[in-house]
Amino acid sequence: MNKMKVAVLISGRGSNLKALIDAAAAPDYPAEIVLVISNVAGAAGLGFALDARIATAAIPHGDFASREEFDAAIDMRLRAAGADLVCLAGFMRILSDGFVRKWQERMINVHPSLLPSFKGTEVHEQAIAAGVRISGCTVHYVIPELDEGPPIAQAAVPVHVHDTPETLAARVLEQEHKLYPLAVRLIAEGRVQLYNGRVIFNDVADANGALFSPPL
Ligand code: GRF
Repeated sequence: MNKMKVAVLISGRGSNLKALIDAAAAPDYPAEIVLVISNVAGAAGLGFALDARIATAAIPHGDFASREEFDAAIDMRLRAAGADLVCLAGFMRILSDGFVRKWQERMINVHPSLLPSFKGTEVHEQAIAAGVRISGCTVHYVIPELDEGPPIAQAAVPVHVHDTPETLAARVLEQEHKLYPLAVRLIAEGRVQLYNGRVIFNDVADANGALFSPPL
């Protein structure tokens, strides 16, 4: 099988990276992780890549005079690794418009809300403050505008009355770990297409049923 080459950009814990590494360990998974880049030298997530014998690069943003120079260094590593797809997974740097345009339609992100609700940071605080009964996560294509860009896949979870940002984050994160590998698989299988700024699918079954919160 000719596998899609994926690079993952992280800044910290790396639990989504770990989920992608675990998914890619299956022989029939259509993507392989060829490189993990962190802008934080000691990022815990780098350990998952080292354990799986995946090439890593620590590129501390502080070593560069400008955002553009930092992005150019990342771009060089991505191209040297032959990356077909870039997955942002808890990558906490804003990428320059030029970099995003270069990788547009080949770069995706996971965000812990049902976009377009609750962009930016403190997402679970926002969801709780808004009083929504359902939240979730979104994998979307990256465009220059932060946390915008066409959604590819979403998963929903209930928000409980007594949730704290931490308990809600944990419930959402569990689904991120399933959603991100699913989205990468669909892309690698050529089943995701952009059409008029929206994602359409080839040969993907529609979801059934509904999540009620509170339950019926
Ligand atoms: C995740 O919640 C992701 O949605 C957000 O940052 C967090 C990263 O967690 N963008 P991890 O580093 O993958 O564990």
